[in-house]
Amino acid sequence: MFGESLVAALTAGGLLRVTPQGLACPVIIQPVRGFYIVYDPVAAKLAPVGKYLVMGMGTSSLAPANAAPRRHYRRALDVGCGGGFQSFHLATHCDEVVGLDINPRALSLGRLAARLNRTGNIDFRLSNFYAAVEGEKFDLIISNPPFVISPESEFHYRDGGLGADRVTETVIRNASNYLADGGIAIIICEWAMVQGAEPHDRLKQWTAGSGCDVWVSTSKGEDLPSYAMSWLRAYRAHLSPEEFHRTYNRWLDYYDDLLMTGIQTGLVVLRKRAGGNWLYIDEAPPVIRGRWGETLLQLFAIHTLLHQATVDELLDQPYQLASAARMRHVYQQVGSRWSSTEAEIFLEEPLPYSGRIDQYTAGLLARCDGTVPLRELVAAMGDAVGVSFAEIVEAALPILRGLLQRGYLIPVSLLPPGPEPSAV
Ligand SMILES: C[S@@+](CC[C@H](N)C(=O)[O-])C[C@H]1O[C@@H](n2cnc3c(N)ncnc32)[C@H](O)[C@@H]1O
Repeated sequence: MFGESLVAALTAGGLLRVTPQGLACPVIIQPVRGFYIVYDPVAAKLAPVGKYLVMGMGTSSLAPANAAPRRHYRRALDVGCGGGFQSFHLATHCDEVVGLDINPRALSLGRLAARLNRTGNIDFRLSNFYAAVEGEKFDLIISNPPFVISPESEFHYRDGGLGADRVTETVIRNASNYLADGGIAIIICEWAMVQGAEPHDRLKQWTAGSGCDVWVSTSKGEDLPSYAMSWLRAYRAHLSPEEFHRTYNRWLDYYDDLLMTGIQTGLVVLRKRAGGNWLYIDEAPPVIRGRWGETLLQLFAIHTLLHQATVDELLDQPYQLASAARMRHVYQQVGSRWSSTEAEIFLEEPLPYSGRIDQYTAGLLARCDGTVPLRELVAAMGDAVGVSFAEIVEAALPILRGLLQRGYLIPVSLLPPGPEPSAV
């Protein structure tokens, strides 16, 4: 049915295998988000592909891809590129993309997909971490490294083979060496929580002195038995109950030896900036909606302002409530009327944070329409409750800082250019 030359070309390209039963396609070619990716079916976990299996798009692939600002950049780097899921996104808005992977099969499938996609600006390089880009600088680095913490080192894409959380550590500790000034690295990863230490101590050590501002969005943290069980269910369901139990205990003994108490998952973003740097760690909202690279850039600008500005400089600015901000009130019957007992502010998208606020802050936020400096709004609030300006500033500023840090409130100076704020 197919011409011999077509079969020969597809076979040589790795897209077809001649088997005794006929022709077989050993890989999956999937269209995603406007391009093709080529990867191995799950059954390829068995020999001969085994360790060299190339994964398709996973949840961990989407997190950094959705966070990446899709602006024009000159050079981008994808560390642990696999079949190129991140690289093909980057290739749409960056002049040059370098994809690094230790697995030669991943690079072959990435190059194959590049031909299918007619993408000519990705340079796939065989590399142990950053080795193949020594001395080079990038404006954007994305990494979804093999971060699973376990006693196993069976698959390049899952384990990395360094033990504990050292793959994550290597990617994070070294990222700043390859960032150009102002460059951003976005890394999805997991790190160990260890006895006697705060949950994020390891992450703080890895980023200290990096010359980068660091913004981290974390999960609540997972307990070790659930973590081990979910990975083993996915990979070891074929074992007999006894073998499964032995393997499970081996994972838990491994965590005991490392003095681990739990595992944190997070999106870690570093931005190289000269001067004093800041670190901000916050719990992630329950879901993140859509692609939010512009919001990420805005959050970096807000945190940098909060880090650098004096109290007077913060008070002298007008602020605008985010367009996605909403308020929810709970009312309770008091006497013969409804009385509001609590108010919740939340963002509809892209980072749907939520939190309680008091009625005074709620009133002040309603007046943040981008026209009046905060100083005047806070003074009016002080008058309303009969408190001096100094006292009201002391009480209100930490609350307003928290609202700014999560992006409920935006300094007008940092709003993207657009229609003038409403004066109503
Ligand atoms: C979780 S996969 C990510 C694939 C793809 N970037 C994505 O986001 O879907 C991790 C990738 O890192 C690669 N990798 C593992 N150890 C590495 C190392 N030491 N240096 C470079 N790449 C490595 C694996 O081969 C695998 O392709």
